[in-house]
Amino acid sequence: MNSAAFLVLLFSIFVSALAAPQPEPHQGIPEDPEPVTTVTSCGGLLETTSAIINFQVGGSIRADMRCLWIVNAPYDTQRFSLVSSGLNENDGLFVTAYGKEGPGLQYKVASLGQNHTFVSRTVLVTLNVGHAPTFGFSLKFFSSGSAGAVAITGYIGLTTARGNLSYPLGGGNYQNSESALITITPTVPGKPTLRFTFVDMEGASCLYDYVRTFTWFENTYSQVARFCGTTIPTSLTLAEGVGLVSFTSDASVTGPGFAFEWE
Ligand SMILES: *[C@@H]1O[C@H](CO)[C@@H](O)[C@H](O)[C@H]1NC(C)=O
Ligand SMILES: *[C@@H]1O[C@H](CO)[C@@H](O)[C@H](O)[C@H]1NC(C)=O
Repeated sequence: MNSAAFLVLLFSIFVSALAAPQPEPHQGIPEDPEPVTTVTSCGGLLETTSAIINFQVGGSIRADMRCLWIVNAPYDTQRFSLVSSGLNENDGLFVTAYGKEGPGLQYKVASLGQNHTFVSRTVLVTLNVGHAPTFGFSLKFFSSGSAGAVAITGYIGLTTARGNLSYPLGGGNYQNSESALITITPTVPGKPTLRFTFVDMEGASCLYDYVRTFTWFENTYSQVARFCGTTIPTSLTLAEGVGLVSFTSDASVTGPGFAFEWE
């Protein structure tokens, strides 16, 4: 192409860009007009196109309460907006994108009506009440856009003060291409210690099949350990009462998995 033709081409691109309508903020599937699901529990899995979390609205919440909701939505864009809140400044309500790399971009939700928007099909909603009782809140979210990459293939929410968990749940070997998320948030506030008692998965570099642990600390999720093979990591105390265990497997080689206890 000679330079004159190139200029004409550039010009025509410029003109068509001017003439083109501005793209909508959410391409593809639009948001539901109103939330289609209502959730009142402390935490859990939300696999829906939109929801309103009404947690203790107009009622009180005990000091040090932790709740963790996992939004696993069908489309890639999630918009969160606080409808009402009795939380105070020592309490925290956070929304955190969750992807293959673990927890990512995070916002503290505090202002009514402000939009917090993510491009992530999975978002963690973490309630972290301060050392005094507080009051409930109402938070809504809407999913829109296009079908994005799946971030989690399985979810287990552990809310008892102590227990044992063996993964996979039914015994046998785990599957290929898993991305499982296990959350630990005792309903009765506590600081459980996680102790892995068994680990047997594809080894070598921990790039293929691996477990990661995360603890909630200073209002963010931070990774504590990443392990594979038959490595038993050191025990981990969840000082702020919230923890994540993520398990990832690649497209080949499986194994018996792992087990841990918390108390
Ligand atoms: C939040 O997003 C919705 C939907 O896009 C929009 O109607 C509303 O005006 C936004 N609110 C603010 C405060 O930006
Ligand atoms: C886990 O299981 C073992 C063996 O049954 C038991 O001794 C231990 O107390 C359990 N741990 C918890 C925290 O429940």
